[in-house]
Amino acid sequence: MISARELSKHFRGPGGKTVVAVSDLTMDVAPGSLTAFLGPNGAGKSTSLRMLTTLLEPTGGTATVCGHDIAREPAEVRARIGYIGQKNGAGQYQRVRDELLSQGALYGLGRAETRRRADELVEILGLTELVNQPTMKLSGGQRRRVDIALGLIPGPRLLFLDEPSTGLDPQSRAHLWQHILELRERYGMTLFLTTHYLDEADQFAERVMVVDQGRIIADDTAPRLKTSFAGDRITLTVDGDPGGAVAVVRRAAADSAAADPEPEVTPAGAGTRIVVGVNHGDRVLPALLRELDRVGHQVLTAELARPTLDDVFLNLTGRSLREENQTADGVPTPETTHVGAAR
Ligand SMILES: Nc1ncnc2c1ncn2[C@@H]1O[C@H](COP(=O)(O)OP(=O)(O)OP(=O)(O)O)[C@@H](O)[C@H]1O
Ligand SMILES: [Mg+2]
Repeated sequence: MISARELSKHFRGPGGKTVVAVSDLTMDVAPGSLTAFLGPNGAGKSTSLRMLTTLLEPTGGTATVCGHDIAREPAEVRARIGYIGQKNGAGQYQRVRDELLSQGALYGLGRAETRRRADELVEILGLTELVNQPTMKLSGGQRRRVDIALGLIPGPRLLFLDEPSTGLDPQSRAHLWQHILELRERYGMTLFLTTHYLDEADQFAERVMVVDQGRIIADDTAPRLKTSFAGDRITLTVDGDPGGAVAVVRRAAADSAAADPEPEVTPAGAGTRIVVGVNHGDRVLPALLRELDRVGHQVLTAELARPTLDDVFLNLTGRSLREENQTADGVPTPETTHVGAAR
C-alpha cells in the first residue's frame, strides 16, 4: 500500500537554519494493516504523512502510495486515499449532514451514492443524533468523528489519520477507537496513523514505528519491541542475609538469557531489595520464589514489572516519551511546539 524510499524533508527554520523534519524514511506497508507512527512532538510524524498524502513535496527520496508515485501521479494517489489531518477539517457553520454531502460532491461522487455513504458513516460513527447540528456546536470527540466521516466519504482503500485522538478525554478516546476498528473491519481499509499515546499504539496497532528527530528508530510489533528493547524486571525484598538469595536470583536471570543477569542489591528497611532484569518474568518469578523458599530464604515482597513502549523509547533514546508529551498534571501538551509551522 505504501512504499517509501529515503524520503526526506528539510525546512528552513528560524534564522535560516535547516530543520531536518524527516530523514531517510524507508518503509513498506502491507494492505489491510494498522500501523502506528509513534513519537514525541516535532519527531516528523505529520511531515511524513503530508508527504505521503501529496500535500507536501519531499526534499529527497521517492514513494508510491496505492501503486502510484507521489511526485509524478499525485492525483492518482489522492483519488485512492483518505487523510484526516491533525487539525479539524470540518468547517464551522454547516450542519454535519451538509458537510458530508458537500464532501461527496467535492470528490465527484453522484448524489445518490454520496447520500448512501453519508448515511452509512453517520450510523457507524454514532452521529445519528448530530446530523442536523452545525459542526461548531459539537464537542471535540464528536467533531473528530465528523472529521473521520469526511475522510471516508470517498471510500478510500488507505486512510491516514494524524493524531485522531489527541485532546479527547479517555472515554471519548476509547469510543473513537471502537469506531476506527469497526470501520476497518467493515471496509477492510489499510490504516496508517500517528499518535503519541503509547497505550493506543500498544493496544491497537499491529506494527509500531517509533520516530524520533526525523528518523525511524524502531519498527516492529509492540510485543517484539518490548522484548527486544526492554525486558521484564523482578523486584524482591528478602529477610536476613541476602548473599545466598542474590546468587539464586542471578542464576535464574542467567537461565532466562537475560542481557544483564547481575542483580542490583540495596538495603530496604530490615531486609534487602534485589532487582534484576529477566526474560519471560511471568514464568521465572514463580519458579524463583519456589527455589528461594526451598533453600530457606524468606521473601517479604515480590513484584514483576513488564515493559511499556515508553521503556522501549527510554532505552532507545535515553528520554521518556511520557515526559516529553505531557505537562506536569498529566495532560497532553497542546500543539504549540511548532513555531510558525503550517499544517
Ligand atoms: N512548515 C514548516 N516550516 C518549518 N518547519 C516546520 C514546518 N513544518 C514542520 N516543521 C518542523 O519540522 C519538525 C517536524 O514537525 P512535524 O509537524 O512533522 O512533527 P510531529 O511529529 O507531527 O509533531 P507533533 O507531535 O507535535 O504533531 C519540527 O521541528 C517542526 O518544527
Ligand atoms: Mg504532528
